[in-house]
Amino acid sequence: MNPVKHVAIIMDGNGRWGIRHNNSRNAGHRAGLNTVETIINESIKENIKYLSLFTFSTENWKRPKIEINFLFNLLENFLSKKINYLVKKKIKLKFIGAINKLPSKLKKLIKESEAKTLKNLGLQLNIALNYGSKDEIINSIKLINKKNIMVNNKNINKYLFTKDIPDPDILIRTGNTQRLSNFMLWQLAYTEIFFEKKLWPDFNLNDFKKILKKFRKIKRNFGSI
Ligand code: IPE
Ligand code: IPE
Ligand code: MG
Repeated sequence: MNPVKHVAIIMDGNGRWGIRHNNSRNAGHRAGLNTVETIINESIKENIKYLSLFTFSTENWKRPKIEINFLFNLLENFLSKKINYLVKKKIKLKFIGAINKLPSKLKKLIKESEAKTLKNLGLQLNIALNYGSKDEIINSIKLINKKNIMVNNKNINKYLFTKDIPDPDILIRTGNTQRLSNFMLWQLAYTEIFFEKKLWPDFNLNDFKKILKKFRKIKRNFGSI
């Protein structure tokens, strides 16, 4: 049975869910938060060490300002209201992405919540925010050149946002769309990918458990036979 150390998720379909149920994309973003909590709790139960959630991509700045602000507000509320819960659950928060370019209030909350959970030894929750994989790789190579060291696997890994984090074993994308949308292009080289038809707010505990079960039985070759 394959061990599950790291699960990465492209949480797609909130907007469509919101339009369908409330005629508002933002209602879908709010509903998606319930799924986030379900998946966090189950990941802890399953002893998964890393959970990475794609929350906002570098391309998502193309959305209307009102939706972007709503998303950032939602995250700010989550961080301020749930911090005690995260600490109690021994969760370590880590943000990956171009955090410096985010609004200052959100940036401050990010720094505070990372600091408050830094010593926690339970689930590491990686929140990909203003994250773009191509920029991440370019940046790593630039740093390697600056330091005048070899361009190799080890050094590229060393300067990614995900340094010290093993590559995902599982990638789940909900929302009935089969693409990576600039998420962890380097890290997903040998990840098992599960595309889910359901929209993120409809994705439930049972769907998650089914994927874990299926994954555990897969024969992973890594190029061997
Ligand atoms: C959530 O899903 C992903 C985020 C960018 C927060 P979407 O907002 O992309 O939902 P759809 O794909 O438009 O339905
Ligand atoms: C990917 O979803 C980004 C997140 C889930 C945060 P998108 O909805 O932005 O992806 P595209 O634009 O449909 O590829
Ligand atoms: Mg989408």
